[in-house]
Amino acid sequence: MDKIRLGLVGCGGMGTRHLYGLRELVQTPFSNVELRAVCDIRRENAELAALEAEKLMGVRPGVFTDLEEMTRSVPDLTAVDVVTDPSVHHDVVCQALDLGLHVMVEKPMAITVKGCQQMIEAAERNNRYLSVAENFRRDPSARLVRYLLETGAIGTPYMALFHSLSPSDTIFITPWRHLKERGGALLDMAVHFTHMVRYQLGDIAEVYGDVRLVEPVRRKPDSIGDTYTFYQNRHRAMQAEVPATAEDTSLAMFKMENGMTVNWLVGLSGHGGCGGEIIFGDGGSINGFGTRGGSISMQQRGQEELTQEEILASIDGFALEPLAEHLFPSGVSAGDPAVDWKLIALEYYELGDAILNGREIEVDGICGLKDVAALYAIFESARAGRTVQIGEVENCDVYEYQADIDDILSLQ
Ligand SMILES: NC(=O)c1ccc[n+]([C@@H]2O[C@H](COP(=O)([O-])OP(=O)(O)OC[C@H]3O[C@@H](n4cnc5c(N)ncnc54)[C@H](O)[C@@H]3O)[C@@H](O)[C@H]2O)c1
Repeated sequence: MDKIRLGLVGCGGMGTRHLYGLRELVQTPFSNVELRAVCDIRRENAELAALEAEKLMGVRPGVFTDLEEMTRSVPDLTAVDVVTDPSVHHDVVCQALDLGLHVMVEKPMAITVKGCQQMIEAAERNNRYLSVAENFRRDPSARLVRYLLETGAIGTPYMALFHSLSPSDTIFITPWRHLKERGGALLDMAVHFTHMVRYQLGDIAEVYGDVRLVEPVRRKPDSIGDTYTFYQNRHRAMQAEVPATAEDTSLAMFKMENGMTVNWLVGLSGHGGCGGEIIFGDGGSINGFGTRGGSISMQQRGQEELTQEEILASIDGFALEPLAEHLFPSGVSAGDPAVDWKLIALEYYELGDAILNGREIEVDGICGLKDVAALYAIFESARAGRTVQIGEVENCDVYEYQADIDDILSLQ
């Protein structure tokens, strides 16, 4: 099979996990991506990633600290996978596109809506693919929810609830996730959720929101769950405390284009928590929007609640794409220790298939921008003290909150 030649740019925590994702793809008959190089402004991170890649896939990629030099040195490089922290996504992605490369970039697409706009323009100007790596929608649970909604399994949906609020005052993965101009924890985490709201329920029309900074000081957690060498090394080197500037708690009401309302409470702060995702329709309800390694359930009018396995056994016509069927033969990812990597494998495969065969990109620049705008609509509404139309945020007409970030980063 033809393969695209890829460079990984950004070899931190998620960059490392992308290598494991690539290994998942390379092990299948669908393998269409070849890793040629890794790049990080911190040489030690690129070196560690090269070591991981060699361990996982048997070939040591070239090691670089500069994207332009990597592009010059690696013959016929086709694409880059940008997994840097979000505050530089726009710089790195626009540079890569201008160098003639196709790009996949981790979510959030960019640090502000203006950053997203610059990336869309660069992709258009260079006639290159731009794909946003939004993994949650590729989980079998998310695909199933979408199918159930499309086929009217719960009738006409009218309201939904999306709550994910965990008490915490510790550093969330990295210190940068508490700094507004680097991409706060809400942008980092909850852009997945605005994406899932839009994926399942369609476009948003207007937003009323409130955001708070509840924990002004974040302290180093005693341990970090991940066993990857990169995460362990970083945890050892982490400072004891980080003064936070990014809000950590959000509440919103979304009015959807289709008339539905969505009640949102998302954050990582304080002393109490709540969680739950439900989509209500006039013929039933679905518990869950679908998520990485998650499972959903459904209750139809007058019926017992069905688990994901029971739903799958009771419906016809639902199918995953061939690689997803190969990776998740049971149609359930819950409990699969490799689920994180398998979803990344699906992202890589799609990029390769787009470049080699013209397949459509699922989460393109416009979609990535809408996810970022939906999240910032909560912040902009809080700053403006009123409900905002999503168009005002997507067009940067309501932009005070993000203008502060652009000023700090000199993003024009
Ligand atoms: N989809 C998911 O489930 C998921 C999970 C975690 C992180 N992410 C996303 O992945 C991205 C990276 O997050 P992370 O946790 O790996 O961050 P990180 O801080 O661990 O890693 C970022 C890496 O990028 C490097 N870098 C910064 N600027 C660079 C540049 N100009 N050129 C090359 N390298 C550069 C840093 O040195 C670092 O090694 C973020 O966008 C984050 O939101 C996604």
